[in-house]
Amino acid sequence: MFVVVGVTGGIAAYKTVQLVRTLVTNGHEVHVVPTEDALRFVGTATWEAVSRNPVTTSVHDDVAQVRHVALGTSADLVIIAPATANTLAKMAAGLADSLLGVTLLATTAPVVVAPAMHTAMWEHAATQANIATLRARGVHVVGPADGPLTGGDSGPGRMVEPDQIADAALRIVDATAPDATERQAPATADLAGLSVAVSTGGTREPIDPVRYLGNRSSGRQGTALALAAAARGAEVTLVAAHVDDGVLAEASTHPRVRIVRVSTATELGDEMTRAAARADVVAMVAAVADYRVAEVSHTKLRKEDGVPRLELTGNPDILAGLVAARRPGQTIVGFAAETAATEAELIERGRRKAARKGADLLVVNLVDWDQGFESAENAVLVLDAAGEIVAEASGTKRAVATTVLDAVIALRTAEI
Ligand code: CTP
Repeated sequence: MFVVVGVTGGIAAYKTVQLVRTLVTNGHEVHVVPTEDALRFVGTATWEAVSRNPVTTSVHDDVAQVRHVALGTSADLVIIAPATANTLAKMAAGLADSLLGVTLLATTAPVVVAPAMHTAMWEHAATQANIATLRARGVHVVGPADGPLTGGDSGPGRMVEPDQIADAALRIVDATAPDATERQAPATADLAGLSVAVSTGGTREPIDPVRYLGNRSSGRQGTALALAAAARGAEVTLVAAHVDDGVLAEASTHPRVRIVRVSTATELGDEMTRAAARADVVAMVAAVADYRVAEVSHTKLRKEDGVPRLELTGNPDILAGLVAARRPGQTIVGFAAETAATEAELIERGRRKAARKGADLLVVNLVDWDQGFESAENAVLVLDAAGEIVAEASGTKRAVATTVLDAVIALRTAEI
């Protein structure tokens, strides 16, 4: 594929080197178009070396080849990373005062922008209006992520990690390809008209203003389930606790996925209860803390005060609460990450949990120090309410999500 990578003047430009490298490694023909400002962060030599193509910034270079039009018309995909507030404003206005601006006007390829700026600039009404204009024009916005920013602040404004930008952009091309309608609305648009509530990520229970009790959940499996359900036609509410950087990038641009961010188990419980009140299918994929600190300290615990003794108190079992409040016809799916020495022990633990939780399906997977977390792959057994194995899946988290949704559909069909 012919990919134009536009780079604009932000410190995150150094990460775009990795983006270009990933695209080239995956066999794409990459042409980098930096703005003059971008070159103050990363120079032409680097872009030429990683893209293996000449780099120009001016519409006046290579005029005989009509380079400014050629780049735009040849492109199968244009990615702008980082996209500064200034560039987004210029794009919204359709300005063509640089090679990148001209390329953007000349192209009909999908355009993906990965914004990067200070939180205040991202949240400014002008930037938000520009983003809305670009979205309405079909531009795909990936991120920004929430996290530490240059200058010590933290908040939304961080550029999404390069591999996740590449991933999201390639999926967008896939989905907008001519035969995409068929692929996007396959024979399995079997969740159309249904509302699905999914929780994902790991909750964090505060100890004091700087510390928390947390877990290793990356949020990938729940997000994959939300995206798979949306691809099959459902309207999805994704209640996301803490997830790894970039995990929500694709979901945040999906028209049928609404993301609600939470932090603690209590917040997650409140939002899932709200979403479940109108959902046909509920999936509790989140890793919920069973305990929270009984008395959160409002000042930082200090060493001079001695080793703290944390008293814990139980959090409500959200899944059990959702099962108790189940609407007629609602299907509820629980997830259980278990440590076990043998498959028999895993199944036995799953069976006991299925009986205890009362969910219609329980998706069980094995976890260990080096298994089950932070990875793109998973292996699961799906148990029904009686503890019988109704499905098994291994592979990408998206493939596992598909198996889980198939089991949901099979159950709902059997109940009619
Ligand atoms: N869950 C929940 N509320 C909690 C704890 C867990 O809703 N306070 C949900 C999870 O989202 C998951 C399922 O219950 O869908 C199983 O979670 P797990 O942590 O495996 O179960 P626990 O009941 O906490 O049992 P244990 O930790 O003892 O294995």
